[in-house]
Amino acid sequence: MEIARTPGSTAAACLITFALAAGTALGQVSPAAPRAQDSATPGPTRVPIGATTIKLPEPRAKSATSVEEALRGRRAPRTFGTAPVTLQEVGQLLWAAQGITGNYGRRAAPSAGGLFPLEVILVAANVTGLPPAVYRYRPTTHDLVRIGEGDPRPAIADACHFQPLTGVPAIFVITTVESRTAKAYGDRAPKYVALEAGAAAQNLSLEAVALDLGCGIMVEFELPKLAQAVGVGPEEKPFTVLAVTGPEPAPRS
Ligand SMILES: Cc1cc2nc3c(=O)[nH]c(=O)nc-3n(C[C@H](O)[C@H](O)[C@H](O)COP(=O)(O)O)c2cc1C
Repeated sequence: MEIARTPGSTAAACLITFALAAGTALGQVSPAAPRAQDSATPGPTRVPIGATTIKLPEPRAKSATSVEEALRGRRAPRTFGTAPVTLQEVGQLLWAAQGITGNYGRRAAPSAGGLFPLEVILVAANVTGLPPAVYRYRPTTHDLVRIGEGDPRPAIADACHFQPLTGVPAIFVITTVESRTAKAYGDRAPKYVALEAGAAAQNLSLEAVALDLGCGIMVEFELPKLAQAVGVGPEEKPFTVLAVTGPEPAPRS
């Protein structure tokens, strides 16, 4: 697959890359209108030339689950079911992790200086309404860009020391582009970025409770193997893996 590296140094370069991604898209094409804040998140984010983009359903703004109920209900299972999740659900989870919720591209999770060093990769294996593939979430357009084919779950499981991930319907990998934050905060960037990734992961975990889904979290993995499995890098580093299953969560204990 041919890959275009987004230089990120100029807004024009970003616009060209997004235009390429949108212009030759196939299937459920949703032309990605670039917005000003796209150029505020430069970095090594890769967008395949001619990539398919898939518009996500609008996230819901209300639920029957209170924040307190979600906090009480959150558990990290060690075993995972295989029940599918839906496109609506993965869209809601992505919105919870990094969705736009305010002016200037502000998101559901806080970001030091509004520099947004996080990316979210979705490995969709059994998602109703979404062809199996690897996708990158784009918050500003609330859509997915297909960045990889095939089933990387065995490779992800291998990278995660053979945790039981091969049957999981949806895997979210939160990645970090630390240079975005380091530009302004120098050697404080690792701390800030780690906090942001933790906040995004917790948002996603709590949203999973509200959707009655199972959600496990993993941080122990071989970074190069995981990066290769989902097709990112070298400056974009996987930070955490979230394994999401349909509504049959196995109680932890
Ligand atoms: C930094 C971190 C790393 C974790 N790594 C794993 C992991 O590799 N595999 C796993 O099954 N759970 C992992 N967990 C989940 C913890 O085991 C779990 O949160 C803990 O046992 C408490 O259970 P609870 O989350 O259900 O309250 C991790 C949690 C954190 C915060």
